[in-house]
Amino acid sequence: MKVIVAVDSNWAIGNKGALLARNKEDMQFFKTTTTGNVVVMGRKTLESFPGGRPLKDRDNIVITSNASYSVDGAYIVSSVDEAVAKAKELALSDKEVYVIGGASIYEQMLDICDEALVTKMNKAYEADAFFPNLDESGDWELYSSSEDKEYPDGTFNFCIYKHK
Ligand SMILES: NC(=O)c1ccc[n+]([C@@H]2O[C@H](COP(=O)([O-])OP(=O)(O)OC[C@H]3O[C@@H](n4cnc5c(N)ncnc54)[C@H](OP(=O)(O)O)[C@@H]3O)[C@@H](O)[C@H]2O)c1
Repeated sequence: MKVIVAVDSNWAIGNKGALLARNKEDMQFFKTTTTGNVVVMGRKTLESFPGGRPLKDRDNIVITSNASYSVDGAYIVSSVDEAVAKAKELALSDKEVYVIGGASIYEQMLDICDEALVTKMNKAYEADAFFPNLDESGDWELYSSSEDKEYPDGTFNFCIYKHK
C-alpha cells in the first residue's frame, strides 16, 4: 500500500477543507498514478471533490463513522481495518492501493504503507491540515527527488520516500 500526497514546505496539505494550490502537472501525475487502482480516503476528502463524487476509473473506498452514509460508485467502510480488508479484496494481485487522504486518514494509515509519493511545493501556505514530516521521521527515508519543476506559485519536486 502506498500513500500519495502534495505538501508545502511545512508539510501542510490543506486549508478550510480544500487543497493549498492548483498544480496541473501534479493533478495529472495523481490521475495517471491512481487510475485503474484502488484509492482509500476519508469522508471529508471525498466531499472536497467536484460534486462530492468518487474519482473516475478507480475503486473508491471511503471511511466514515456514519453507518447510513452512501454514495454512488464508492465502497463505504466504517474503520481503517475494514478499509484495508476491502482494499486487499479489490486489489488482488494486479492493482495498487493508494491512500489519498486527508490528514486524519494519512495519520492513521501511514504506518502500514511501504512507500510515500510526495509532491513537495517549495512554498509555505496558510493551512490547517498537515501530513507527518517524513524528513524528521526515523521510519522513512528519501529515496528519490525529481529536478525542480515549475508551477504558478514557484517550484516543486516529485519525491519518493520508502518506509524503513
Ligand atoms: N494535499 C493533499 O495531497 C491532500 C489530499 C487529501 C486531502 N487533503 C486535504 O485534507 C483536508 C481534509 O483532511 P481531514 O483530516 O479533515 O479529513 P479526511 O481525513 O478526508 O476525512 C475525515 C473523516 O473521515 C472519517 N474517518 C476518519 N478516520 C476514521 C475512522 N478511524 N473510523 C471511521 N471514520 C473515520 C470521519 O468521517 P465522519 O465524520 O463521516 O465519521 C472523519 O470526519 C482537506 O483540506 C483536504 O483538501 C489534502
